[in-house]
Amino acid sequence: MPSFPPAIAFSYPGIAEDVARLRSLLAEAMRLLQRPPLVEPCILNLACGRADETGVLLEALCLPGQGGHYLGMDLRVAEIQEATRRWKQCWLPQGRVEFRVADASLARHLPEAADMDVIFVRHQNFWDDPATWDRIYRNAMARLKPNGLLMITSYFEKEHELALAALRGLGARVLLDLPHNASRPLPDAPGKSVDKRLAVIAHETSSTLVL
Ligand SMILES: C[S@@+](CC[C@H](N)C(=O)[O-])C[C@H]1O[C@@H](n2cnc3c(N)ncnc32)[C@H](O)[C@@H]1O
Repeated sequence: MPSFPPAIAFSYPGIAEDVARLRSLLAEAMRLLQRPPLVEPCILNLACGRADETGVLLEALCLPGQGGHYLGMDLRVAEIQEATRRWKQCWLPQGRVEFRVADASLARHLPEAADMDVIFVRHQNFWDDPATWDRIYRNAMARLKPNGLLMITSYFEKEHELALAALRGLGARVLLDLPHNASRPLPDAPGKSVDKRLAVIAHETSSTLVL
């Protein structure tokens, strides 16, 4: 039983299983990077859509029963409203969960401080608009703590590679790039599957273990 169950059911069949698999993948990444659970975390979930992964993200990354701040952002109003209904009441006792309609490519829409422990982007969409995603990644890297982590997942191998190349061009270092062997194939496009790869990225100067 998850510690952070959704307040309302997921919208589609298969999502509960998908996010459970994502939790295992994230836990494996934290183990490989030898990262302890986050305490009083600041987490930004960019381009979060319905943010179905909110519960498992918090479970995989954080110590339970504490405070912190989790902020999800997306352009889409309906998705942000749904995420709010699903997750607003479900988090840590002293914590704050919020979702905002915002453009992550605009620096002024993001929190100002560079104090994020983790910035997460699930199913990043680099090839939809490379220039916009370049700005999103630039904004994300600028909000990480010195030892903070940017985590991205992708639906497609090629899109994942393109995003990692863009991030390296911004001075980021790829600490870990995990294939997801249990990823669920999706029928709407060849080669597409749920959280097909997970990469963990840090500043070039980060002291984090490099695998
Ligand atoms: C492939 S969907 C992934 C959504 C969600 N993370 C998921 O895994 O289900 C890409 C998302 O990026 C969002 N997006 C695209 N450009 C954005 C921007 N500039 N700022 C915020 N969100 C953006 C879209 O609205 C969409 O929800």
